Amino acid sequence: KNSVTDGPELAEPYLRQVLGMAGLAVEYVRAEGNTLYRRGEGDEEIAVADFAGGYGSVLLGHNHPDLVACAQELLAAGTPVHAQFSRHPYANRLAAELNRIVGRELGTDEPYFAIFANSGAEAVEAALKHAELDRGLRIAALRSAAKDAAEAARDAVAQGRAQVPGRVRRRFGIDAGAPSTDALEQLTARLAAENAAHLDRPPLFLALEGGFHGKLGLSVQLTHNESYRTPFRALGAQARFVPPDRPEALKEIHARERGVLHVLEVSGDQVDVVEREFPVFCAFLVEPIQGEGGIRVLDAEFAGAIQRFCAEIDCPVVVDEIQSGMGRTGRLLASSRAGLRGDYYTLAKTLGGGLAKTSVMLVRRARYRQEFEIVHSSTFAKDSFSCTIALKVLELLEADGGAAYRRAEERGAALRTALEAVRDDFPDLVGDVRGQGLMLGLEFRDQGGSASESVRALAAGGLFGYFLAGHLLHAHRVRTFPTASAVNTLRFEPSVHVSDEEIGRLEAGLRDVCRLLREGAGDRLAGA
Ligand code: F0G
Repeated sequence: KNSVTDGPELAEPYLRQVLGMAGLAVEYVRAEGNTLYRRGEGDEEIAVADFAGGYGSVLLGHNHPDLVACAQELLAAGTPVHAQFSRHPYANRLAAELNRIVGRELGTDEPYFAIFANSGAEAVEAALKHAELDRGLRIAALRSAAKDAAEAARDAVAQGRAQVPGRVRRRFGIDAGAPSTDALEQLTARLAAENAAHLDRPPLFLALEGGFHGKLGLSVQLTHNESYRTPFRALGAQARFVPPDRPEALKEIHARERGVLHVLEVSGDQVDVVEREFPVFCAFLVEPIQGEGGIRVLDAEFAGAIQRFCAEIDCPVVVDEIQSGMGRTGRLLASSRAGLRGDYYTLAKTLGGGLAKTSVMLVRRARYRQEFEIVHSSTFAKDSFSCTIALKVLELLEADGGAAYRRAEERGAALRTALEAVRDDFPDLVGDVRGQGLMLGLEFRDQGGSASESVRALAAGGLFGYFLAGHLLHAHRVRTFPTASAVNTLRFEPSVHVSDEEIGRLEAGLRDVCRLLREGAGDRLAGA
């Protein structure tokens, strides 16, 4: 039913139709705390326990009264929301507060500079662009060092202080009998030609299989799901995907793709040729807990392997905390628990408190290039409205000695206990319960081999989790979604206000789903 107008539906009608198949195209008319109210058939409000949590943007609950008050006060006071190219004390305060908390969690006092953006994908985009700007400047420095070294070698040979030894001539196929001045000319030309091939190489990004970093031009090329990525392959960045269960793949990719520059060096009375690693690898993107890819926690050992590998080849690590961060696991940065240290961090979602669209990209000082501030910007980023709300979000997280972080952990543990109880009672149907804090997933086993034809049909359509979600919504007043790239996994990212009653309702709903699957009643699950 189209309740507003009978005119044509033009805002993504196909998506609505797909959602409609699973009974998910309902209208929500009000939201408060952990509850979304949907419009019923007779216009009445039906309270739904929200376990989708705006895909992770409402950790503090929908319309948190302090955040709503903050927004109302800002607007009532006539705050200049858009005053680009002026001093932004609110942005600076926000950056300082983020640094205080990040410093505490990482145990470092190296500052991180903040670049603000509007969405998660844009923060990722900014991180990738910054990393490429940095790579370009590092290449320019390498180029100029190579040029200086070549000149120093030429002077040394011209003045008779150094010679091109036979060892170097043989290695580069240079005439053994030529005078050193001629040999050096030949050598310089050979190296210039070899190096040129590397100096123009485009950046290569590294990311994990199953990862999700957004759907913009660059970021979608680092998002693993092929259906999102491949139609746009020609637009964007080159990435190599690393399987999280095979750390040795890091070395293999490096061996295959690395770049080496040959640079002249005078040592004693000989001209030598030394190798310098050329920065092909622009950045390594990693989610501490993969969200959209199925709620998969990054293994601490693998995190360590990534950290060591990137340090060895001087490749910056971008830790994408857009979904896992902002307190969801009991910390501002979920990665700080695994000891992963990012050169960059991206934060979004709950940063805007569910009211503002805002995101931030943090870069540690040692990597920061201030030139970036001139070449990257957005009309909407860093505005007073978003920054002030984000500051309030941090204040709410930090209040009472971090009560909200502790609550995320405690509610997460309660939710996990309920999910594990379902898994223990239905091991034939539930394969796994994963995640940390209030970022949890429950994976159903593939039902493609079910004895029931209706369950097999449900499993075959690619919408398995969506049908289960539709049933949970209509029969149990619980809102959850599968992770989009792993539709057998339902994800649970409620707010810190989620109650025992709501967790109980979810558990009862999941048990009902399991019983229907066991009974082979696929038609009842599909009949939302
Ligand atoms: N990075 C991560 C880890 C994300 O989970 C998301 C979005 C993004 C980047 C992009 O952020 O949507 O603000 O541009 N994840 C949602 C999901 C869409 O389904 O988990 P965005």
